[in-house]
Amino acid sequence: MPRVPVKLVTWDEIVEWSWKLAKSIEEANYIPDVIIGIARGGLVPARLLCDFLGVENFLSIQSQHWTEAAKASEKALIKFPYTVDLSGMRALVVDDIVDTGDSMILAKRFIESNWRPKEVKLAALQWISSVAKIKPDFYAIEVREWVWFQYPWTRLEDVTQFIKRMLTELCRESGRREWSYSDIVTSFREWYGVEVEDRYYREALRALAKKGVIESRDGTYIVKQC
Ligand code: ADE
Repeated sequence: MPRVPVKLVTWDEIVEWSWKLAKSIEEANYIPDVIIGIARGGLVPARLLCDFLGVENFLSIQSQHWTEAAKASEKALIKFPYTVDLSGMRALVVDDIVDTGDSMILAKRFIESNWRPKEVKLAALQWISSVAKIKPDFYAIEVREWVWFQYPWTRLEDVTQFIKRMLTELCRESGRREWSYSDIVTSFREWYGVEVEDRYYREALRALAKKGVIESRDGTYIVKQC
């Protein structure tokens, strides 16, 4: 059993789920005047919905998660709180996933009070029904057990985070600092239950070395930040 359950999502699945989502929106006879993608995860699904629903008006809003230093709690905020006038328009807010629901709730509130559309509806490719504080109006996939969905647009970012987490946790647990490339790949598979193309591990290790998390010495990786 992996320590962190991960599912690799393919580009084909993204197209299938976005298609299914578009159909459910159409079947409800809902035609938005504008689609708003929550950056960054909602941008590809939102763009596909524009295509599949024939919507030309596209906006983006960025929700950012940050961890308060003193507390372990995560807070979401709108990164660039600009204002546009959407009065009289029906807005569809789109994200890749509704997990806790915090991003969607925040974006909806911000858009309603600052952009003032006639109506706001929410759509996501996936909805984790067991943990989410809200249910989107439209979704393609209901997820019952929490999994980290490794979407194709964050492969490198996620692999970098995953390797960092694995190396620092193992360093703290057992004091291990020295790793070969193949040990990292093997442990990655054990920890996360998935494998990615070689270039992602290599590039992630380069990024971690650049940040000073690890150091590369004659084909061995040394964990610097434990
Ligand atoms: N973003 C927030 N929750 C997520 C999850 N479970 N999988 C992928 N991306 C996410």
